[in-house]
Amino acid sequence: MEIVIVPDAAAGGELIASAMAELVTRKPDALLGVATGSTPLPIYQALAAKVRGGALDVSRARVCQLDEYVGLPTGHPESYRSVVLREVIEPLGLTEASFFGPDGAAEDVAAEAIAYDHALAAAGGVDLQLLGIGTDGHIGFNEPCSSLASRTRIKTLTQQTRVDNARFFDSLDEVPHHVITQGIGTILEARHLVLLATGEAKADAVAATVEGPLSALVPASALQLHPHATVVVDEAAASGL
Ligand code: GLP
Repeated sequence: MEIVIVPDAAAGGELIASAMAELVTRKPDALLGVATGSTPLPIYQALAAKVRGGALDVSRARVCQLDEYVGLPTGHPESYRSVVLREVIEPLGLTEASFFGPDGAAEDVAAEAIAYDHALAAAGGVDLQLLGIGTDGHIGFNEPCSSLASRTRIKTLTQQTRVDNARFFDSLDEVPHHVITQGIGTILEARHLVLLATGEAKADAVAATVEGPLSALVPASALQLHPHATVVVDEAAASGL
């Protein structure tokens, strides 16, 4: 695992956007796995700036989702599909045709999760998967005690994660209890994993991920198993290392 400590979130975003730009330049139809939450926004802003400035052509790149809430109506502004369309697809000048993810409003959610796992493989696998980290060490929505070999499936959120994500909704009651998430085993199949963590609130989770034992109690520690994992942290998030 490669650890890169950067001064702040903007520098982390710029560094990772440069790595993504290099990948897309080398492989124009690369499949980019994107994450939601606040942390990756500087990456998407830096990437969009490169596209707007004419330094980067992402027109053939493909984008896929890491996870999705279950039960939000189609088009809900906080569904992760809507978030990725707003924060990634539109700013990069891509269209929905370049983007796929699991349907959290599907009638048969379990079947939808399996189908999404297969769709990722059928698309040739993820070239670069962006990850954030939950304060409890989760990646995607793989909460502590998720199997390190898990596949894409339905999961129940912990109360802590619902509280952490309540800021995107009008009230805690509106935060869904269930999600579809790529499993840890699924995530580990991406060719390059890039985790960004910023801010002091992530310091304990980062320390457990990087320096703690491999443990299902800290899902992000599974990155220790991956041959090409990069963890980018700002100084605050690195303060427990
Ligand atoms: C959600 C997402 C994760 C993300 C986490 C942290 O739980 N499913 O993919 O890493 O939030 O979000 P933030 O970056 O806003 O702290």
